[in-house]
Amino acid sequence: MRIDIISCAPALLESPFAHSIVKRAIDKGLVEINLHDLHKFPINKHGQIDDYPFGGGGGMVLRAEPLAACIRQLQATVAYDHVLFMTPDGKRFSQDMANQFSLCGNLLIVCGHYKGIDQRIRDLFITMDVSIGDYVLTGGELAAGVVVDAIVRLLPGAISDEVSALTDSFQDGLLGAPVYTRPAEWEGMLVPEVLTSGDTPKIEAWRFDKQVEKTTRLRPDLLQ
Ligand code: 6GU
Repeated sequence: MRIDIISCAPALLESPFAHSIVKRAIDKGLVEINLHDLHKFPINKHGQIDDYPFGGGGGMVLRAEPLAACIRQLQATVAYDHVLFMTPDGKRFSQDMANQFSLCGNLLIVCGHYKGIDQRIRDLFITMDVSIGDYVLTGGELAAGVVVDAIVRLLPGAISDEVSALTDSFQDGLLGAPVYTRPAEWEGMLVPEVLTSGDTPKIEAWRFDKQVEKTTRLRPDLLQ
């Protein structure tokens, strides 16, 4: 899989991709992630990429020309399954969307900053607007980091124990069961006996019960 990300602050995304599971997935060749700095496509010698909004109002808007030049340069050699725009007015990101995106070959993610991007870029190039929740971030970069992390961990081979991703919270529409590790007794508190019984069907039944109980208590909306 290949993921290209266009940003005017690409350094914000270097660290999330340089550690842990995402880094390992890159090192294994499961995914290639390329950051593209919008500042490489300025409209003048002053390095300008944004401008004041027509009609007034606060904030700056990313201009169409730098974004179009960057997107077109990429599209000249790559056919993208999706061109995503990270924006609080987008479709709420979900595990279902992560699953679908993880099946894509090539993804292009456009991060806005300031007040947003010129609407004509959205009309012309963007195939889906994506939000990670009902709150406003200073830019789309952290949101893109969240989306990429959720996608990459689903790629076959990204997580050493493949079963692991399938037993996540949300993957079956339920929250995850509680987990324990050694020691079996810690500060007087015991691990549920069933987990040390070695009886796999019984353990699976216990986990499912816990998932249903926890989801009913904390997220009844998921059961609708
Ligand atoms: Cl995708 N971008 C920004 N700037 N803010 C957000 C968001 C995205 N999702 C939630 N808030």
